[in-house]
Amino acid sequence: MKATKKILCVVLSVLMVLACAPFAMAAENEPFRISCTVNGSMQTQRGLTWFTNVDTASVVVYSDGTNELTAEGTSMEWEGNFVHKVLLTDLTPGATYTYKVGNGTVWSEEGTFTTDDGDDQVEFIVVADIQASSVENFEVGANVLNKALGMYPETDLVVNLGDFTNDSTNEEWDFYDYALADINRSTTLAPIAGNHDGLGVWHWFNNMFNLDVSGSVQTLNGVNYSFDYGNVHCAVLNTNDLLSMSEAQLKWLKNDMNSTACDWKMVFMHKSPYTLGKDGKWPDALYLKDALVPVLDECNVDIVMSGHDHMYLRTKSLYGDAVAENGDGTVYVLAGTAGSKRYEIRDFLKEHFMPVSYIDTCVVQKDGYGNYFNGTDFDSVDENNIGGIFNSISVSGGTLVLNSYVVSDATDEVKCIDTMTITKEVGQNIPSFDGDNGTSEFEYAMNTPISLAKLAFYALTEWLFKFLLMVPDLIRVYSETGTF
Ligand SMILES: [Fe+2]
Repeated sequence: MKATKKILCVVLSVLMVLACAPFAMAAENEPFRISCTVNGSMQTQRGLTWFTNVDTASVVVYSDGTNELTAEGTSMEWEGNFVHKVLLTDLTPGATYTYKVGNGTVWSEEGTFTTDDGDDQVEFIVVADIQASSVENFEVGANVLNKALGMYPETDLVVNLGDFTNDSTNEEWDFYDYALADINRSTTLAPIAGNHDGLGVWHWFNNMFNLDVSGSVQTLNGVNYSFDYGNVHCAVLNTNDLLSMSEAQLKWLKNDMNSTACDWKMVFMHKSPYTLGKDGKWPDALYLKDALVPVLDECNVDIVMSGHDHMYLRTKSLYGDAVAENGDGTVYVLAGTAGSKRYEIRDFLKEHFMPVSYIDTCVVQKDGYGNYFNGTDFDSVDENNIGGIFNSISVSGGTLVLNSYVVSDATDEVKCIDTMTITKEVGQNIPSFDGDNGTSEFEYAMNTPISLAKLAFYALTEWLFKFLLMVPDLIRVYSETGTF
């Protein structure tokens, strides 16, 4: 009788595990976590990455519809799996390719990407902070991205501003893969390192994606790189670099932005210099404002998209940490979360860290806000604003249009929450730097004490006093909500 009970228990346990398991583990040799990323020229190159449970060859078969080609790459063991990377080169500009990855006998499902044709029409979808731990929450992000791609079928590039997962475990990346695999196989991705992407494991982010790291000042906790798409130059920053930004990366950014002939300049990064969220009170956010913003001003960057604070906030055009008088500055967009973890406003950050006069639009989705900032107050509660957010950037000649949308949790309907247009005369930008923009390990090491000293100086002279003024509010918020 006891034995029968035991067997029944085991059978029931197995059935329960199977019922709870949202997906089957990949079979031996079967590719999983496939991504197609920016890697050098958007017209002629793509970086492919995938994982397997056991070590195999790394082969890609790809076709532009006429010619079928094969490319091979490398594999290495990584955190209990094997990661494969193949770089596709000499692609035809403006061509649509299909591809499959595998070991030569076992293949993935078919993926697809389209190379940049070099014209002046560009369409990006930008999302941030899915930061999920469960399949259910990754599926919120997948639904938001599917809505975005349905609305913008000509999307050239998906930009993910970081915090792909919450704890960066193998299980979470597998959940991410389960929910987003079809999207990742059918788009080109520009990934940005968030502070949750590779928590405590050096090189995790760099091993997850096949990126051109030749411009990176280091790859321990993220990657910085740049690329052109049409007439748009994009720089991706690593805001995990010495808490937020090293001197070496600032120098790289300045040289990189000054070396492009593109008329439009964009920066994508994870942390935000302008925010009303809970992370806006820490020294790294203030340091981004004090150290990074002057470089963005100097380089005439048009728009900065960032995440980390899980709310939507767009500034007016800013220059010199003030509203630009002629509108000819940089617009900062805190892109909202495409996932389901959302932050409330920290009212006490207003004026201390973030002048309200800088804000053009703000949509917060937690604790009864769900509101628009309409220029005077934050109290116009609207349940329809509660949901995951995606952003579209369309560039056509001398016009850039940003449209941001919420996918309602309640109705699954898509609602536009913000529209902004920037215009400029194109053909005006002349590069001013054509030297070597590399950073040696020695140079990075030599710069590290200077970077840390600057951060400490800002923290003591700029941040500490403001922070102490906030302590009563922090205690109040903690007693009310259990969090800072
Ligand atoms: Fe973050």
